[in-house]
Amino acid sequence: MRKVGLILPVLLLASYVLLGQVYRLDEMDLRGMETGWSSPKANKSVDGNPLTVAGISYEYGVGTHSVSHMLVNLNGKGLRFESLVGIDDETQGKGTVEFLVLGDRRILWRSGLMKAGDPAKEADVDITGIKLLGLLVLDGGDQNYWDHADWLMGSFLMESYKPSVVMSQRQPYILTPPAPLSPRFNGPSLTGGSPKKPFLYRVPVSGKRPMAFTVKGLPKGLTIDKDGVIRGIVSKEGKYKLVVTATNDHGKASKEITLVVKKDAISLTPPMGWNSWNCWGLEVTQQRVADAGRAMIEKGLADYGWSYINIDDGWEADKRLTDGSIVCNEKFPDMSKLAKDIHADGLKIGIYSSPGSLTCGGFLGSLDHEKQDAEMYAYWGIDYLKYDWCSYGETSKKYTLEEYQAPYKKMEKALRECNRDIVYSLCQYGMGNVWEWGDKVGGNLWRTTGDITDSWASLSSIGFSQDKAAPYLKPGHWNDPDMLIVGNVGWSSSLHPTRLTPDEQYTHISLWALQQAPLLIGCDMTQLDDFTLSLLTNDEVLAVNQDIAAQPVKRIILQQGFEAWIKKLADGSWALGLFYVGSTADAPEDYFAWDQNDKARELSIDVQSLGLKKGDYSVRDLWRQTDLGVSKEKINVKVPYHGVVLLKLKP
Ligand code: GAL
Repeated sequence: MRKVGLILPVLLLASYVLLGQVYRLDEMDLRGMETGWSSPKANKSVDGNPLTVAGISYEYGVGTHSVSHMLVNLNGKGLRFESLVGIDDETQGKGTVEFLVLGDRRILWRSGLMKAGDPAKEADVDITGIKLLGLLVLDGGDQNYWDHADWLMGSFLMESYKPSVVMSQRQPYILTPPAPLSPRFNGPSLTGGSPKKPFLYRVPVSGKRPMAFTVKGLPKGLTIDKDGVIRGIVSKEGKYKLVVTATNDHGKASKEITLVVKKDAISLTPPMGWNSWNCWGLEVTQQRVADAGRAMIEKGLADYGWSYINIDDGWEADKRLTDGSIVCNEKFPDMSKLAKDIHADGLKIGIYSSPGSLTCGGFLGSLDHEKQDAEMYAYWGIDYLKYDWCSYGETSKKYTLEEYQAPYKKMEKALRECNRDIVYSLCQYGMGNVWEWGDKVGGNLWRTTGDITDSWASLSSIGFSQDKAAPYLKPGHWNDPDMLIVGNVGWSSSLHPTRLTPDEQYTHISLWALQQAPLLIGCDMTQLDDFTLSLLTNDEVLAVNQDIAAQPVKRIILQQGFEAWIKKLADGSWALGLFYVGSTADAPEDYFAWDQNDKARELSIDVQSLGLKKGDYSVRDLWRQTDLGVSKEKINVKVPYHGVVLLKLKP
């Protein structure tokens, strides 16, 4: 393998060194470079290997992953930008991308489509007079799988000015008003469970502790404890009206909650909880899961209905016992105890497996052991199973519907025969339009996409494409566009704050609320900061997610870069998200925030263009929890770049 070090760049820049100063791309602040997967690396590929393209290694440069972009302030003092570009050999033949260099919104240079194995191309771009320079890697039009893109030996030749990266991350700002100290019931007025199976429900009430709970109308077999946790077994099917009352030093509140006792009446509203994957990845441990459960209570999240503590991949051993039973690896010394402790707090616990012989992380899957595994989960006290396709088949191959469904049906039967209610989460990335049939194989939720990561490219491409699945949701059966990427995430022991800007995080939670997506927090719960907590504890926003009518959300493109997502709520009002999406691959300049200081846009929208009847509506801002008055046929708002205004409209 040849190695290219300093000779080439010296030659490339030789003609300029006397005119200006050279600044290397790899020495800049790469926290400002956005990637569609993982994080950018100086002098390494995105996977951390030496930068290598078409058999040639390069000493310096930046390894990234499409869609990737970075904005650089040149202050009009640039002369040339030079770099070689290509797909890193580590993808072993996979991936297609296109590299672009933009200056003050104009495309200055583009590589054309590049495939893995193509020799590096040279960008040699005149940047005289340019104030802001954008470096962009697009996905080549075929999603961003394996798009490991390298900027090799990238350098700026500058005239007496040090170029700096424009950071997109702005200061977090909290919109959610603090909760009152007096008791306030949060969450839907509906819960459910099967007859003759254990029932567990922590009534979500915020307010100062200690708090006392009483309940009227509890069916035989159930009790409520001092923390407001209802548990027990009901033998008779029925619809029970419970009236729960909570009292503390600051006041008293009551709420009627309908308890539906009916076979498999679970997840009547989208599951809310935590999952280990987006923070710990395969480095999940029993302690980390237990800590997440504790934090769910201590940070007050349980008071808003957050209830599942889910273990993702990485708990399983790599060998079964001689009788075929599944066992945990050494990181999970006692699964029964973990479940017991989580249940003691009124929370529920989830687990993960695959219909294949191995999980995606290479641990034991459930192939040919479905019944045995389901029984073991029930024995441990598990309440939720995420069942991930992984080694069961190929993701690039087309199967028949029967083939897609077979493994999920098999586990469905095993789960439903258990002596516990177990929420069934299908994970097969949307293959065969799973949203059209997920309920037929007993799915309470089904992933509609590939994995999400903490970048705007990932969030927006997943979030804004879910209208396809929207008509299929119904109580007990939900579309799952993957887990939340707020807070400290990392897919391993090394965590970092989400790379989404605060406005992008408001977009994330608002979109997931409007789509009634399952809400699974993906960060380290012990490190929740006030901003992240405020995103997860806005009762009016969560109420949209938990709305019992389960009406499909509708997507309306308002104008280039702006979308409205609107849905009808159970009380006859409408939830409306107005989003300033900005970027589209057709307009590469939209990937960049060229106007850092003026990124918000005024919108004036005619209610009829949203499909609503002509007339006046009272408008409430759900994040701020304030009334904005009555709209006179038009709704006027200012929407932040990549952000949202989330409203409730009452006719
Ligand atoms: C992926 C799945 C992720 C995570 C991971 C575990 O297939 O989409 O959400 O579960 O496997 O290995």
